[in-house]
Amino acid sequence: MKLLIDDANVEVIKKIYEYYPIDGVTTNPSILAKSGRPPYEVLKEIRRVIGQEAQLHVQVIARQAEGMVADAARIRSELGAGTYIKVPAIEEGFKAMKELAAQGANVTATAVYTPMQAYLAAKCGAKYAAPYVNRIDNMGYNGIQVAKEIHDIFKNNNYTTEILAASFKNSQQVLELCQYGASAATVAGDIILALVKNAAITAAVDDFITDFEKLTGQGRTMQ
Ligand code: E4P
Repeated sequence: MKLLIDDANVEVIKKIYEYYPIDGVTTNPSILAKSGRPPYEVLKEIRRVIGQEAQLHVQVIARQAEGMVADAARIRSELGAGTYIKVPAIEEGFKAMKELAAQGANVTATAVYTPMQAYLAAKCGAKYAAPYVNRIDNMGYNGIQVAKEIHDIFKNNNYTTEILAASFKNSQQVLELCQYGASAATVAGDIILALVKNAAITAAVDDFITDFEKLTGQGRTMQ
């Protein structure tokens, strides 16, 4: 399963990129708004940190299909033609997805709450569909279950569209989809940093070092 960072904080992205095996970054308008900076300035910095080849997903803002296509053209010219264009899976969005797919753009269907949206996005030529796991849970449904159903729809119909599960509140949700074989998950920086934050792990490593130092002296390593 690919693991992406759902964040626009450049310092957080730098840190996670240095330490963890990461496949890219996703953003949305609300995440960009948190930075309080001009969007393309932040996005270009992120592009520099992750490199031209890594996945970067950026959402269109326009409400009508024509505007979404125009947003996508600017995003691709500023950040690279391979940048994934996040398009809401709504009526105007499906029209835009068809046009963008015909242009050869990478499309990520976003704001996916139902399997029907994901099915339509796949038929429009989207590369990814992003179900909002936690937001679906908050509506009283089962977000993990919806994500699994979308995964099954893609596999059972041989669609090349992949699932990019999004909106997580904890690492268990991420693991459950990994176990199921989901193609990709995008996870907020603080949750990625918490994935292996565990007192038992830290204590075990500390004990190994302390025991070794009893043998060789403080500060000695295998060098
Ligand atoms: C991804 O496409 C979404 O923009 C994002 O994951 C939503 O996450 P949230 O529900 O935590 O805001």
